[in-house]
Amino acid sequence: MTPLILHFLLACASESPDTGPCADPTVTWESFGQSFLITHCQGCHASTSPQRYGAPVGISFDTQEQAAALQSAIERTVLDQVSMPPAGGLNDDERALLEQWLDCGI
Ligand code: HEC
Repeated sequence: MTPLILHFLLACASESPDTGPCADPTVTWESFGQSFLITHCQGCHASTSPQRYGAPVGISFDTQEQAAALQSAIERTVLDQVSMPPAGGLNDDERALLEQWLDCGI
């Protein structure tokens, strides 16, 4: 079993965000999360998006509260499964910042 699969199974088993220590508390909703989600996710996931390309109705990141409620799903899809965004395109810096933001509790 690879560490990645183990990580995924543990994340599922606990049903809580699999976060590490908060490395940089300056990575916040205001400084990073909101603009990241608008740029990379909200084209399909915003509740107001005219064309969601099949993105599930319940998965929207309009507010910090919605993002926080989906924290573990964001981590799983973007960082673990690398299934979102569907076309990819995140660079290493963006992935590292996302991980820090999730670790710091959105
Ligand atoms: C081009 C449109 C598009 C973009 C951009 C996009 N998604 Fe999605 N997303 C989808 C579609 C379609 C589905 C449903 C099919 C699926 O689950 O693969 C989905 C499903 C999801 C789900 C639920 C599925 C699950 O396994 O829990 C989550 C969570 C999610 N997306 C997060 C994100 C995040 C976070 C981003 C930005 C980093 C993002 N998506 C960007 C189209 C998109």
